[in-house]
Amino acid sequence: MLGEATAPGKMILFGEHSVVYRGPAVVLAIDRRAKVIAGKRDDEKVYIDADNLGFSGYFEGDEYHAVRGKAWRGRNLAALNMSTRKTMERLDVESGVNLKVRSMIPIAVGLGSSAAVNVATVGAVQRLFDGDLSKEEISNIAFEGETIIHGKPSGVDNNVSTFGGVMSYERGKGFNHHQIEGSIPFIIGNTRKKRSTKKMVETVAVLRERNPALMDNVIDVMGSIASEGLDALLKKDLKRLGDLMNINHGLLSSIGVSTMKLETLCHTARANGALGAKLTGAGGGGCMIALAEETELAEVERAIRRRKSDSYRVSLTDRGVESRRIEEKNADS
Ligand code: MEV
Repeated sequence: MLGEATAPGKMILFGEHSVVYRGPAVVLAIDRRAKVIAGKRDDEKVYIDADNLGFSGYFEGDEYHAVRGKAWRGRNLAALNMSTRKTMERLDVESGVNLKVRSMIPIAVGLGSSAAVNVATVGAVQRLFDGDLSKEEISNIAFEGETIIHGKPSGVDNNVSTFGGVMSYERGKGFNHHQIEGSIPFIIGNTRKKRSTKKMVETVAVLRERNPALMDNVIDVMGSIASEGLDALLKKDLKRLGDLMNINHGLLSSIGVSTMKLETLCHTARANGALGAKLTGAGGGGCMIALAEETELAEVERAIRRRKSDSYRVSLTDRGVESRRIEEKNADS
Protein backbone atom coordinates (compact mmCIF):
# COMPACT_ATOMS: atom_id res chain seq x y z
CA MET A 1 0.00 0.00 0.00
CA LEU A 2 0.99 3.62 -0.57
CA GLY A 3 0.08 6.89 1.14
CA GLU A 4 -1.33 9.67 -0.99
CA ALA A 5 -2.10 13.27 -0.03
CA THR A 6 -3.04 16.48 -1.77
CA ALA A 7 -2.92 20.06 -0.44
CA PRO A 8 -3.91 23.42 -1.93
CA GLY A 9 -1.85 26.46 -2.85
CA LYS A 10 -2.79 29.87 -1.50
CA MET A 11 -2.99 33.52 -2.26
CA ILE A 12 -2.42 36.27 0.25
CA LEU A 13 -5.09 38.91 -0.08
CA PHE A 14 -3.69 41.25 2.56
CA GLY A 15 -0.78 41.34 4.98
CA GLU A 16 2.23 39.80 3.21
CA HIS A 17 5.47 40.99 4.80
CA SER A 18 3.72 42.89 7.61
CA VAL A 19 2.60 39.50 9.00
CA VAL A 20 6.25 38.55 9.49
CA TYR A 21 6.38 41.22 12.22
CA ARG A 22 2.82 41.59 13.51
CA GLY A 23 -0.67 42.38 12.40
CA PRO A 24 -3.04 40.09 10.59
CA ALA A 25 -2.82 38.57 7.14
CA VAL A 26 -5.83 37.42 5.15
CA VAL A 27 -5.09 34.26 3.19
CA LEU A 28 -7.22 32.17 0.85
CA ALA A 29 -6.69 28.56 -0.22
CA ILE A 30 -7.01 28.23 -4.01
CA ASP A 31 -8.16 25.38 -6.24
CA ARG A 32 -4.67 24.40 -7.47
CA ARG A 33 -3.21 21.47 -5.60
CA ALA A 34 0.02 19.57 -5.02
CA LYS A 35 -0.07 15.79 -4.77
CA VAL A 36 2.45 13.50 -3.09
CA ILE A 37 2.46 9.71 -3.16
CA ALA A 38 4.68 7.97 -0.59
CA GLY A 39 5.90 4.38 -0.73
CA LYS A 40 8.20 2.31 1.50
CA ARG A 41 11.79 1.50 0.56
CA ASP A 42 13.98 -1.29 1.85
CA ASP A 43 16.92 1.05 2.53
CA GLU A 44 17.06 4.27 4.58
CA LYS A 45 16.98 6.70 1.64
CA VAL A 46 14.37 9.36 0.96
CA TYR A 47 13.99 9.35 -2.82
CA ILE A 48 12.18 12.35 -4.31
CA ASP A 49 10.78 12.08 -7.81
CA ALA A 50 9.52 15.52 -8.83
CA ASP A 51 10.05 15.18 -12.53
CA ASN A 52 7.31 17.58 -13.57
CA LEU A 53 8.97 20.29 -11.44
CA GLY A 54 12.31 19.52 -13.08
CA PHE A 55 14.22 17.57 -10.45
CA SER A 56 14.64 14.23 -8.76
CA GLY A 57 17.23 12.73 -6.46
CA TYR A 58 17.67 11.11 -3.07
CA PHE A 59 18.86 11.84 0.43
CA GLU A 60 21.13 9.61 2.46
CA GLY A 61 20.74 11.25 5.86
CA ASP A 62 21.09 14.96 5.12
CA GLU A 63 23.19 14.48 2.00
CA TYR A 64 21.46 15.03 -1.33
CA HIS A 65 22.39 13.18 -4.52
CA ALA A 66 20.87 14.73 -7.64
CA VAL A 67 19.57 12.36 -10.29
CA ARG A 68 17.94 15.03 -12.44
CA GLY A 69 17.99 18.83 -12.22
CA LYS A 70 20.35 21.12 -10.36
CA ALA A 71 20.58 22.21 -6.78
CA TRP A 72 18.82 25.61 -6.88
CA ARG A 73 15.81 23.91 -5.43
CA GLY A 74 18.13 22.25 -2.92
CA ARG A 75 16.52 23.87 0.10
CA ASN A 76 13.06 22.80 -1.06
CA LEU A 77 14.26 19.23 -1.35
CA ALA A 78 15.94 19.36 2.05
CA ALA A 79 12.59 20.51 3.45
CA LEU A 80 10.84 17.44 2.02
CA ASN A 81 13.54 15.20 3.45
CA MET A 82 13.09 16.83 6.83
CA SER A 83 9.27 16.68 6.71
CA THR A 84 9.48 12.98 5.82
CA ARG A 85 11.96 12.11 8.57
CA LYS A 86 10.14 14.20 11.21
CA THR A 87 6.87 12.48 10.35
CA MET A 88 8.49 9.03 10.70
CA GLU A 89 10.12 10.11 13.96
CA ARG A 90 6.74 11.28 15.29
CA LEU A 91 5.18 7.92 14.32
CA ASP A 92 8.14 6.01 15.71
CA VAL A 93 9.04 4.21 12.48
CA GLU A 94 12.37 3.76 10.72
CA SER A 95 12.28 3.27 6.97
CA GLY A 96 13.30 4.66 3.62
CA VAL A 97 10.62 6.40 1.57
CA ASN A 98 9.91 7.10 -2.10
CA LEU A 99 8.10 10.38 -2.69
CA LYS A 100 6.43 11.09 -5.99
CA VAL A 101 5.62 14.81 -6.15
CA ARG A 102 3.18 16.22 -8.70
CA SER A 103 2.07 19.83 -8.44
CA MET A 104 -0.38 22.00 -10.37
CA ILE A 105 0.83 25.06 -8.45
CA PRO A 106 3.41 27.18 -10.31
CA ILE A 107 6.61 27.21 -8.25
CA ALA A 108 8.35 30.19 -6.64
CA VAL A 109 5.75 32.76 -7.70
CA GLY A 110 3.96 33.42 -4.41
CA LEU A 111 1.19 30.83 -4.62
CA GLY A 112 2.41 28.66 -1.77
CA SER A 113 3.73 25.72 -3.80
CA SER A 114 6.51 24.81 -1.36
CA ALA A 115 4.14 24.76 1.62
CA ALA A 116 1.55 22.73 -0.31
CA VAL A 117 4.18 20.13 -1.29
CA ASN A 118 5.48 20.01 2.28
CA VAL A 119 2.01 19.60 3.76
CA ALA A 120 1.11 16.92 1.20
CA THR A 121 4.39 15.12 1.99
CA VAL A 122 3.61 14.94 5.71
CA GLY A 123 0.05 13.85 4.86
CA ALA A 124 1.22 11.11 2.48
CA VAL A 125 4.00 9.77 4.75
CA GLN A 126 1.72 9.56 7.80
CA ARG A 127 -0.88 7.67 5.73
CA LEU A 128 1.82 5.32 4.43
CA PHE A 129 2.62 4.30 8.00
CA ASP A 130 -1.03 4.23 9.10
CA GLY A 131 -0.64 7.35 11.21
CA ASP A 132 -3.51 9.55 12.21
CA LEU A 133 -1.89 12.92 12.81
CA SER A 134 -4.19 15.86 13.48
CA LYS A 135 -4.18 18.71 10.98
CA GLU A 136 -2.41 20.83 13.54
CA GLU A 137 0.41 18.28 13.79
CA ILE A 138 0.67 18.05 10.00
CA SER A 139 0.90 21.83 9.75
CA ASN A 140 3.51 22.02 12.52
CA ILE A 141 5.78 19.41 10.91
CA ALA A 142 5.43 21.13 7.50
CA PHE A 143 6.32 24.42 9.19
CA GLU A 144 9.69 22.98 10.22
CA GLY A 145 10.34 22.18 6.55
CA GLU A 146 9.26 25.69 5.59
CA THR A 147 11.85 27.07 8.01
CA ILE A 148 14.63 25.45 5.95
CA ILE A 149 13.31 27.09 2.77
CA HIS A 150 12.26 30.53 3.98
CA GLY A 151 14.35 31.26 7.06
CA LYS A 152 11.72 32.67 9.41
CA PRO A 153 8.33 32.13 7.81
CA SER A 154 5.24 33.52 9.52
CA GLY A 155 3.40 30.20 9.24
CA VAL A 156 0.59 31.44 6.98
CA ASP A 157 1.43 29.20 4.02
CA ASN A 158 1.55 25.83 5.81
CA ASN A 159 -1.56 26.63 7.84
CA VAL A 160 -3.81 27.66 4.97
CA SER A 161 -2.58 24.72 2.90
CA THR A 162 -3.40 22.32 5.74
CA PHE A 163 -6.79 23.70 6.74
CA GLY A 164 -8.02 25.27 3.46
CA GLY A 165 -10.67 28.00 3.27
CA VAL A 166 -10.35 31.65 4.20
CA MET A 167 -8.15 32.46 7.14
CA SER A 168 -6.92 35.44 9.03
CA TYR A 169 -3.69 34.91 10.86
CA GLU A 170 -1.77 36.91 13.38
CA ARG A 171 1.61 35.82 14.60
CA GLY A 172 1.44 34.70 18.21
CA LYS A 173 -2.37 34.75 18.16
CA GLY A 174 -2.97 32.02 15.60
CA PHE A 175 -5.70 31.51 13.04
CA ASN A 176 -9.35 32.27 12.57
CA HIS A 177 -11.43 30.56 9.90
CA HIS A 178 -14.08 32.51 8.01
CA GLN A 179 -16.97 31.47 5.81
CA ILE A 180 -17.78 33.26 2.57
CA GLU A 181 -20.94 32.41 0.69
CA GLY A 182 -20.53 32.06 -3.08
CA SER A 183 -17.51 33.01 -5.12
CA ILE A 184 -15.34 36.13 -5.32
CA PRO A 185 -14.06 37.03 -8.79
CA PHE A 186 -10.25 37.00 -8.52
CA ILE A 187 -7.73 36.77 -11.33
CA ILE A 188 -4.08 35.89 -10.93
CA GLY A 189 -1.46 37.45 -13.18
CA ASN A 190 1.82 35.57 -13.19
CA THR A 191 4.92 37.52 -14.30
CA ARG A 192 6.67 34.10 -14.69
CA LYS A 193 9.64 35.53 -12.82
CA LYS A 194 10.70 33.19 -10.04
CA ARG A 195 12.01 34.68 -6.84
CA SER A 196 13.01 33.66 -3.35
CA THR A 197 10.69 34.45 -0.45
CA LYS A 198 13.67 34.25 1.90
CA LYS A 199 15.52 36.95 -0.05
CA MET A 200 12.51 39.25 -0.22
CA VAL A 201 11.86 38.92 3.52
CA GLU A 202 15.53 39.75 4.14
CA THR A 203 15.29 42.84 1.87
CA VAL A 204 12.44 44.17 3.99
CA ALA A 205 14.32 43.38 7.22
CA VAL A 206 17.32 45.41 6.02
CA LEU A 207 15.10 48.38 5.12
CA ARG A 208 13.48 48.15 8.54
CA GLU A 209 16.85 48.14 10.28
CA ARG A 210 17.77 51.39 8.51
CA ASN A 211 14.35 53.02 9.07
CA PRO A 212 12.83 51.40 12.14
CA ALA A 213 10.23 53.99 13.19
CA LEU A 214 8.97 54.68 9.69
CA MET A 215 8.83 51.01 8.74
CA ASP A 216 6.90 50.21 11.90
CA ASN A 217 4.29 52.78 10.84
CA VAL A 218 4.02 51.22 7.39
CA ILE A 219 3.70 47.75 8.92
CA ASP A 220 0.94 49.00 11.25
CA VAL A 221 -1.00 50.52 8.34
CA MET A 222 -0.68 47.26 6.40
CA GLY A 223 -2.14 45.50 9.45
CA SER A 224 -5.08 47.93 9.55
CA ILE A 225 -5.70 47.35 5.84
CA ALA A 226 -5.79 43.60 6.46
CA SER A 227 -8.35 44.02 9.28
CA GLU A 228 -10.55 46.29 7.16
CA GLY A 229 -9.98 44.04 4.16
CA LEU A 230 -11.29 41.02 6.06
CA ASP A 231 -14.42 42.97 6.95
CA ALA A 232 -14.93 44.03 3.30
CA LEU A 233 -14.34 40.45 2.14
CA LEU A 234 -16.88 38.99 4.54
CA LYS A 235 -19.43 41.65 3.53
CA LYS A 236 -18.53 41.08 -0.12
CA ASP A 237 -18.08 44.82 -0.53
CA LEU A 238 -16.08 44.54 -3.74
CA LYS A 239 -15.51 48.27 -4.26
CA ARG A 240 -13.99 48.73 -0.81
CA LEU A 241 -12.03 45.51 -1.21
CA GLY A 242 -10.60 46.87 -4.47
CA ASP A 243 -9.64 50.19 -2.85
CA LEU A 244 -7.86 48.38 -0.04
CA MET A 245 -5.98 46.14 -2.48
CA ASN A 246 -4.77 49.24 -4.37
CA ILE A 247 -3.64 50.97 -1.18
CA ASN A 248 -1.91 47.80 0.07
CA HIS A 249 -0.06 47.48 -3.24
CA GLY A 250 1.18 51.07 -2.93
CA LEU A 251 2.64 50.29 0.48
CA LEU A 252 4.24 47.07 -0.76
CA SER A 253 5.86 49.11 -3.54
CA SER A 254 7.09 51.59 -0.96
CA ILE A 255 8.99 48.85 0.90
CA GLY A 256 10.73 47.69 -2.25
CA VAL A 257 9.06 44.37 -3.04
CA SER A 258 7.32 45.34 -6.28
CA THR A 259 8.92 45.21 -9.74
CA MET A 260 8.34 47.04 -13.03
CA LYS A 261 6.45 44.04 -14.36
CA LEU A 262 4.22 43.80 -11.28
CA GLU A 263 3.51 47.55 -11.53
CA THR A 264 2.65 47.17 -15.22
CA LEU A 265 0.28 44.27 -14.53
CA CYS A 266 -1.47 46.08 -11.67
CA HIS A 267 -1.93 49.24 -13.75
CA THR A 268 -3.02 47.20 -16.77
CA ALA A 269 -5.63 45.36 -14.71
CA ARG A 270 -7.01 48.59 -13.25
CA ALA A 271 -7.08 50.32 -16.65
CA ASN A 272 -9.08 47.40 -18.05
CA GLY A 273 -11.82 47.34 -15.46
CA ALA A 274 -10.36 45.79 -12.28
CA LEU A 275 -11.67 47.26 -9.04
CA GLY A 276 -8.34 46.58 -7.37
CA ALA A 277 -4.98 44.97 -8.02
CA LYS A 278 -1.95 44.16 -5.92
CA LEU A 279 1.06 41.90 -5.82
CA THR A 280 0.57 38.76 -3.75
CA GLY A 281 3.11 36.86 -1.66
CA ALA A 282 6.69 37.93 -1.27
CA GLY A 283 6.94 40.04 -4.48
CA GLY A 284 10.17 40.63 -6.40
CA GLY A 285 8.49 38.86 -9.34
CA GLY A 286 5.88 36.17 -8.95
CA CYS A 287 2.19 36.99 -9.06
CA MET A 288 -0.33 39.78 -8.70
CA ILE A 289 -4.05 39.43 -8.09
CA ALA A 290 -6.89 41.47 -9.50
CA LEU A 291 -10.49 41.78 -8.39
CA ALA A 292 -13.17 42.63 -10.95
CA GLU A 293 -16.91 42.43 -11.41
CA GLU A 294 -17.94 39.23 -13.21
CA THR A 295 -18.63 41.22 -16.43
CA GLU A 296 -15.08 42.64 -16.53
CA LEU A 297 -13.14 39.47 -15.75
CA ALA A 298 -12.51 38.33 -19.31
CA GLU A 299 -11.16 41.74 -20.36
CA VAL A 300 -8.83 41.97 -17.36
CA GLU A 301 -7.55 38.46 -18.06
CA ARG A 302 -6.92 39.28 -21.74
CA ALA A 303 -5.17 42.55 -20.91
CA ILE A 304 -2.77 40.77 -18.53
CA ARG A 305 -1.98 38.15 -21.19
CA ARG A 306 -1.20 40.91 -23.71
CA ARG A 307 1.59 41.91 -21.30
CA LYS A 308 3.31 38.55 -21.89
CA SER A 309 2.14 37.11 -18.59
CA ASP A 310 0.02 34.15 -17.60
CA SER A 311 -3.43 34.87 -16.34
CA TYR A 312 -6.05 32.60 -14.82
CA ARG A 313 -9.15 32.81 -12.70
CA VAL A 314 -8.98 31.16 -9.34
CA SER A 315 -11.66 29.76 -7.13
CA LEU A 316 -11.34 29.57 -3.40
CA THR A 317 -11.46 26.14 -1.83
CA ASP A 318 -12.46 24.86 1.59
CA ARG A 319 -10.48 21.66 1.02
CA GLY A 320 -7.25 21.58 3.00
CA VAL A 321 -4.92 18.58 3.14
CA GLU A 322 -6.59 15.29 2.24
CA SER A 323 -4.90 11.91 2.55
CA ARG A 324 -5.71 8.26 1.98
CA ARG A 325 -4.10 4.87 1.48
CA ILE A 326 -4.06 3.57 -2.07
CA GLU A 327 -3.08 0.36 -3.78
CA GLU A 328 0.20 0.45 -5.69
CA LYS A 329 -1.59 -0.27 -8.98
CA ASN A 330 -3.75 2.91 -8.49
CA ALA A 331 -0.77 5.24 -8.16
CA ASP A 332 -1.23 7.30 -11.33
CA SER A 333 1.45 9.78 -12.27
C1 MEV B 1 5.06 34.57 1.78
O1 MEV B 1 4.04 33.83 1.14
C2 MEV B 1 4.51 35.72 2.57
C3 MEV B 1 5.50 36.54 3.37
O2 MEV B 1 4.70 37.37 4.24
C4 MEV B 1 6.46 35.70 4.19
C5 MEV B 1 5.77 34.95 5.34
O3 MEV B 1 4.65 35.29 5.73
O4 MEV B 1 6.43 34.03 5.86
C6 MEV B 1 6.30 37.47 2.48
